[in-house]
Amino acid sequence: MGGVVSLLPNACMGRDKKILHDLKLTLPPERVTSLLSLEHLNVNVPAWNSELEIFWMKGLGFAKDTRADDVCSKVRAKGGSLQGLVWANAGLQQVHMPIGEPPPMESQTIPGFVGLAYSDIVGLRSNLKALSIDFSLVSSQETVAMKDLGPPAMKVKSPTGVNFIIHGIRTSSWVTPSGWMNTKDLEEQQVSLPSQVPSVCLGIPYMRFLCPHGKAAAVARFYDCIFCTKAEVRKAANAEECWVPVGASQWIIYREAQAGDHIPYDGYHIAIYINNFVDTYRRAKERQLVWNNPRFPNTTYDTEDMAISHTEFRILKLVDPQSGEFICELEHEIRAASHPAFCAKQWIGPKPLGELGDHQGK
Ligand SMILES: [Fe+2]
Repeated sequence: MGGVVSLLPNACMGRDKKILHDLKLTLPPERVTSLLSLEHLNVNVPAWNSELEIFWMKGLGFAKDTRADDVCSKVRAKGGSLQGLVWANAGLQQVHMPIGEPPPMESQTIPGFVGLAYSDIVGLRSNLKALSIDFSLVSSQETVAMKDLGPPAMKVKSPTGVNFIIHGIRTSSWVTPSGWMNTKDLEEQQVSLPSQVPSVCLGIPYMRFLCPHGKAAAVARFYDCIFCTKAEVRKAANAEECWVPVGASQWIIYREAQAGDHIPYDGYHIAIYINNFVDTYRRAKERQLVWNNPRFPNTTYDTEDMAISHTEFRILKLVDPQSGEFICELEHEIRAASHPAFCAKQWIGPKPLGELGDHQGK
């Protein structure tokens, strides 16, 4: 499954000579993107209780990532205000849930929904029933059709209001930068996220958000300008959608709201991994789009060297590069492929420049 025919690593050098390896994907000609992975959604929760534990772990079959406590301790040691942290893994993707942030950021949700993939929809449905977790039919307005993914089977809402659309997938696969790949093959290649038990949920193939009415094309221009990524503008009922390709099989989808509709933004964020990190930082910096999130005082990105040092930076505002007009807010946490948390780092390898050839395809 998936459209990638080969993987070739390459690398670029930042000013501080730190090598930032890229993961070069060979994609179908119509899929032009520097985005490798849509890895996580971050939504704060007020507290972690049995209702959330049952919903996320027993109900949806996510798995707790064993790195979260350590990350939480480091952020708190630097002055971060979170009281705890759960990373819920779904295949190679995650939902991050910082716990106990002060108001008004204590609970976040998204104007849209997250697509989830499962190999056993019947089993999931009976599991949700047994746990008294409500699910319902998916409306035509919420239907997303995607290659390799079955039609929407049902929708569920988390205890703090995050909506999910559930899809079936025929094989036990995870969605990687190279497309859907067999879970056993990936585990053998050590392409996996650390958890005590494997997740039943197989991945997050897409997230769909609202953007302002009439702005789908402007969102596409933003991704083209900053990320050299060719998004598709598609006609939908009473609106247009901007489909941003990520790797071989994932999408970030923006659906236009109705004219005059206000789109709430409460500070949730998404995390993406990209190639061409330094050039992307420079384009964002030139347009004054690089943003430090005060919630994460341990990571600031005022200079290129700082971004390279963290192998990440953030953008908060989407702006139309053609007019300079503000479109909407949606914090993007943007990470280089050489970021230590990248799920497919095994395909890049730790070797320095000039010794990368034998890592091809791993
Ligand atoms: Fe994040």
